[in-house]
Amino acid sequence: MQTTRRGFLRAGAAFAVGAGVLGPRALLPDAAAAETPLQALAARSGRYVGTSAGLVPLLTDSAYADLVTRHCSVLAPENEFKWSVLRPTPGEPFNFVLADQMVAFAEQHGMDVRGSCFTWSNSNPWWFDVPAFFNPGNALQLLEEHIGTVAGRYAGRVRSWDVVNEAITGQGLVPTPWAKALGPRYIDNAFTIAHRADPAAQLVINEYNLEYDNRFSRDRQAVMLRLLDELLSREIPVHALGVQAHLVHAAVKGQFNAAQHLRFLRSVAAMGLKIVITELDVSDKDLPTDVAARDRGVAEAHQRYLDCVLQVPQVEGIVSWGLSDKHSWIRGNPDTARFAREDGQDQRPLLFDDRMQPKPAYDAAARSLARARRAAPRTR
Ligand code: XIL
Repeated sequence: MQTTRRGFLRAGAAFAVGAGVLGPRALLPDAAAAETPLQALAARSGRYVGTSAGLVPLLTDSAYADLVTRHCSVLAPENEFKWSVLRPTPGEPFNFVLADQMVAFAEQHGMDVRGSCFTWSNSNPWWFDVPAFFNPGNALQLLEEHIGTVAGRYAGRVRSWDVVNEAITGQGLVPTPWAKALGPRYIDNAFTIAHRADPAAQLVINEYNLEYDNRFSRDRQAVMLRLLDELLSREIPVHALGVQAHLVHAAVKGQFNAAQHLRFLRSVAAMGLKIVITELDVSDKDLPTDVAARDRGVAEAHQRYLDCVLQVPQVEGIVSWGLSDKHSWIRGNPDTARFAREDGQDQRPLLFDDRMQPKPAYDAAARSLARARRAAPRTR
């Protein structure tokens, strides 16, 4: 709270001196320090704010590291816990070099860690495609060894795990390598193993495209509710739904219906589950080249989405997928060519710009957090 007040005072003083000439921020050597930390705003309603980040930007871009540690109390390593990083070579020991450094960074800065992920279709090592290394006969043993080792190693240090990532379609389950090898019960297996390895960790099923009031999202919501209901009826230890919220400006504008989304989130909450917004960003693909117009659109989408989800007490925190546009995954990543803008400009999907300056989306998020409904107490 003190930091917050100091931040306001500093911003105010600079404004008094610099306004009209260079603008308030130009005179501040540590301009990024002028904003109220998002984590302080979130704490007012009993929530947290986090971000994903990669180890390389955190270690090489000190302005980014400062921004992340100032605004966030949760760190979600962007790739460091994925199979491809931890298990590059079959039969070799795990490679914890990057994951250990991420956890150490979080601990140095008093941040909680969200680990992602134990089962997914993507970011798997090459040897998942080689039957000699990955097959229906050894898949369960691999899963047990992997989750047991990783969740066990970080027990008490990683607070929340995405145990199952992107598992559903609008009709049923995605044929991930795990589903193909083990059938639908791989989900039960993964959660049960994780719970055994770290009984105190929060175990999350994390999913994309649950956000809109269109046929595609509604079908996926229905499948997710059915799956959660089945898991809980079998007493599988799932504690929260992760709603990725990789949003697209045009879709939020045209196909987001707060009342419909609230009904979905409340159905999840009614099952006794918590909800984490795990990967928030807003693609500006549909917006014009003009930066101010794009930043306005991205801010509006953040505002609409956050004003909705922050009415739900069981939504315990908001994790953004990156904090500065400079390090967003939807820039220059071959995986995300589908997000490329037609005018060739870089996307501006996040709360801070390339120079770590707050964008209108920061103000939108700050407003939403400040008027959020009180969160239910945390249980994990
Ligand atoms: C992404 C990372 O941001 C990229 O760096 C990587 O190339 C691919 O994975 N949904 C998820 C995240 O669950 O793990 C993904 O992260 C983004 C989409």
